Amino acid sequence: MKNLIVSLLLTVGISGMAQAAGEPVQPGDAKAGQAKAAVCGACHGPDGNSMAPNFPKLAGQGERYLTKQLHDIKSGKRTVLEMTGLLTNLSDQDLADIAAYFASQKGSVGAADPKIVARGEALFRGGDLNKGLPACTGCHSPNGAGNAAAGFPHLGGQHAQYVAKQLTDFRKEEGGRTNDGDAKTMQTIAKRLSDEDIAAVSSYIQGLH
Ligand code: HEC
Ligand code: HEC
Repeated sequence: MKNLIVSLLLTVGISGMAQAAGEPVQPGDAKAGQAKAAVCGACHGPDGNSMAPNFPKLAGQGERYLTKQLHDIKSGKRTVLEMTGLLTNLSDQDLADIAAYFASQKGSVGAADPKIVARGEALFRGGDLNKGLPACTGCHSPNGAGNAAAGFPHLGGQHAQYVAKQLTDFRKEEGGRTNDGDAKTMQTIAKRLSDEDIAAVSSYIQGLH
């Protein structure tokens, strides 16, 4: 009996803490998320396959990664001017539902530029030993699917223009993208990429599936 009370107290205590830290009450519900994502479709496409190359595709992106980005954009940890104010009135549950919806959609794939694809493929698959650059496959997987459970984003088929902007933003000394965690994994990697490297690997990613 005493043990039961202790374990009940622990369970209540832990779930209480989780909620305080901003965890949604329920796991994301893709069906509920579809209606809540209506406003997003104007830029990201109704099913998350955006047409414009500066708007990232969200379809098929990992749920954990999407949820993290939504929290980062909402809090201002990641700046997306185009989305200013859009997430303000959405709850943690809304964000979880929207992430579940886009994660459940099928991502479309584009084509790589044949002139630079070889260099892009070599970088993505093998990195560059001389520059201390790890292969992208280690975290984003050989087919670009990422690792949903670990929160490593799906890259395959993403617009080259968007990918190149992210790598350039990660590389910036100031005013760039800095929400890649305390280890600064992507900032460190991007600083070792030249403009030509970024163009080639981004083009390769656009055609990858
Ligand atoms: C007016 C256009 C616009 C609207 C509307 C919009 N977004 Fe965005 N969104 C963007 C742009 C532009 C970016 C990329 C910014 C950058 O280059 O870093 C982005 C980035 C994102 C990302 C990060 C993607 C990634 O791969 O890291 C997520 C997630 C996202 N938006 C979700 C949403 C959701 C959910 C909604 C609706 C509630 C929404 N967006 C509405 C323009 C828009
Ligand atoms: C050690 C693991 C690791 C390696 C190696 C790695 N990445 Fe990443 N990458 C990540 C993580 C984690 C994120 C998400 C950061 C965040 O939460 O904002 C990310 C994010 C990205 C993004 C942003 C995706 C989006 O939708 O906005 C791009 C683009 C990217 N990586 C490209 C690359 C390329 C190109 C390489 C190889 C040159 C590479 N990464 C190597 C872990 C890695």
